Amino acid sequence: MSPHASTAPDRPEVPKVVVTGATGAVGRHVARLLSELAGVLPTLLVRDTAKAAALGLSGTVSQGDYRDRNSLRAAFHGADTVFIVTANPLRPQDDESILAAASQAGVRHAVKLSWLGVADPGADDLVADWNRRSERVLHESGIPWTVLRIRTPMSNTLAWAPSIREHATVQAFGGGARTACVDPRDVAQAAVQILTEPTPHAGATYSLTGPQELSARSQAALLSQALGKQLTFIDLTADQARARWADRYGEQIADALLEGARRRAQGASARIDPTLEKLIGRPPATFAAWASDHTRHFS
Ligand SMILES: NC(=O)c1ccc[n+]([C@@H]2O[C@H](COP(=O)([O-])OP(=O)(O)OC[C@H]3O[C@@H](n4cnc5c(N)ncnc54)[C@H](OP(=O)(O)O)[C@@H]3O)[C@@H](O)[C@H]2O)c1
Repeated sequence: MSPHASTAPDRPEVPKVVVTGATGAVGRHVARLLSELAGVLPTLLVRDTAKAAALGLSGTVSQGDYRDRNSLRAAFHGADTVFIVTANPLRPQDDESILAAASQAGVRHAVKLSWLGVADPGADDLVADWNRRSERVLHESGIPWTVLRIRTPMSNTLAWAPSIREHATVQAFGGGARTACVDPRDVAQAAVQILTEPTPHAGATYSLTGPQELSARSQAALLSQALGKQLTFIDLTADQARARWADRYGEQIADALLEGARRRAQGASARIDPTLEKLIGRPPATFAAWASDHTRHFS
């Protein structure tokens, strides 16, 4: 893949930023923040335009799918920078397809969302290996890059919303394991800074965490306070958790998620990293603040 593709079209004066994963946990905030900036042309690559509309996303929406190279080529035409999110560990080729389209368009910087588990030498599950491979493919693409390795987004607790609304319960495996969960809005702010002024961040891999190590039990207690409602925490057994993940994601990913949960229980996800505060120039948000901004989803 050549970094100097001769097919790069004439560029408009306003930089075009392509956001993949624009309906995802971090991508939706990247899309929103970019649309609020003057002097940037965000293009949101989404596979479901109705979902993008329901999220209130604005910008140029380009309907597409990582499996459809023509749709990628169309979205990337004239692009300057790109935010890359892939989500299927069983489709490692998605990163390659995105990078091929970006390279052909002459993209000059790619910001890739990844996982901090990559840095854990003891993590050898499918999700860690897939993220490691995706980072490698990016490094080899010839496109200048920045990697954002994140800890669990606070928004993962939205998965608890139905059982909180219906039974005032939170059901989770490994309730005592702590993780330095991060507000996806803070990650998005860092991503937008890099997408719009990439040069100082070329070749950097950033470890982005929130400001506290919190267990699922503590998160449930903070949600309970924010909602003004007593919540009961129910510990799932490993078998119950695995069965739920297998129903949702399939057997291979369920095994990887269980392995990740076991490593969390050993403290692998707890370390707080100061990098995010340095990037965004303020302390990252606490889970209490995130919860208070999202009570409507749990009520
Ligand atoms: N979630 C976590 O707990 C967590 C923790 C740390 C790091 N990470 C890392 O963050 C990255 C994203 O993972 P995630 O699962 O959390 O993502 P996510 O927030 O669920 O977002 C995935 C995005 O990709 C889009 N997408 C998926 N497949 C697509 C396809 N074939 N074509 C076009 N768009 C497609 C989704 O669109 P739809 O809305 O249409 O599905 C969605 O917008 C991964 O590298 C992951 O390892 C995740």
